[in-house]
Amino acid sequence: MAFLQALRNFFVPSATRRIMVVEPAAATEYHVAALTPKHLNEVLYLNFRCFEDGENYTKHTFSYLLSQPNALCFQIATAANEMAGFLCVLVGQEGIAHITTIGVAPEHRRRGLAERMLGELDRSLTERGITSIVLEVRVGNTAAQSLYRACGFMVTQQISEYYNDGEDGYLMVKALSGQMAPGDISRHCEAA
Ligand SMILES: CC(C)(COP(=O)(O)OP(=O)(O)OC[C@H]1O[C@@H](n2cnc3c(N)ncnc32)[C@H](O)[C@@H]1OP(=O)(O)O)[C@@H](O)C(=O)NCCC(=O)NCCS
Repeated sequence: MAFLQALRNFFVPSATRRIMVVEPAAATEYHVAALTPKHLNEVLYLNFRCFEDGENYTKHTFSYLLSQPNALCFQIATAANEMAGFLCVLVGQEGIAHITTIGVAPEHRRRGLAERMLGELDRSLTERGITSIVLEVRVGNTAAQSLYRACGFMVTQQISEYYNDGEDGYLMVKALSGQMAPGDISRHCEAA
């Protein structure tokens, strides 16, 4: 029986698996740290857990991101140094930072970890003289949109069928230190 159950679970569609109840992690301290190539396997595994819809990055993509000189990658880790979240950004030649991926482990969510990583990102980019951040988010991903709005991002454009499954995306932008208006940033992105 156990074997049959295991086999059935193996073929359960991801949409069914997603309604599994998540047991919140025990309370712990967290710290933000660099995400480097030595964390490749750990971040890859966490990314699979965060993006259950299959739209997650491959090992090759993370390997590329973690080795790019124009990339900024952070993790947020527990006191026991277990990775609880990650964030990767690419800075383009035009000086605009592009959030390529962000995720927090389900059992560590709603503890302000994504907000903390985005705050650290703001500080790092401002130090480097970067004035604006852009990202794309699924129109159906209301959790992430709430996060971005809470962190000062605004929707400037809806991008038709941006994702592989045909879902539209929103382009969201944020001006750091108020030096560039959101309209200017999205016009710049369209031109790029
Ligand atoms: C989106 C995600 C990164 C948020 O991480 P998190 O650490 O739970 O977010 P935070 O605790 O920092 O949330 C900060 C604020 O964002 C908003 N927010 C975050 N998650 C939310 C949710 N599920 N529903 C509504 N608002 C939410 C709230 O305003 C929250 O503040 P509050 O908890 O005081 O109300 C996380 O849910 C995740 O990894 N999702 C799967 C991957 C993903 O969708 N990434 C984004 C791709 S564009």
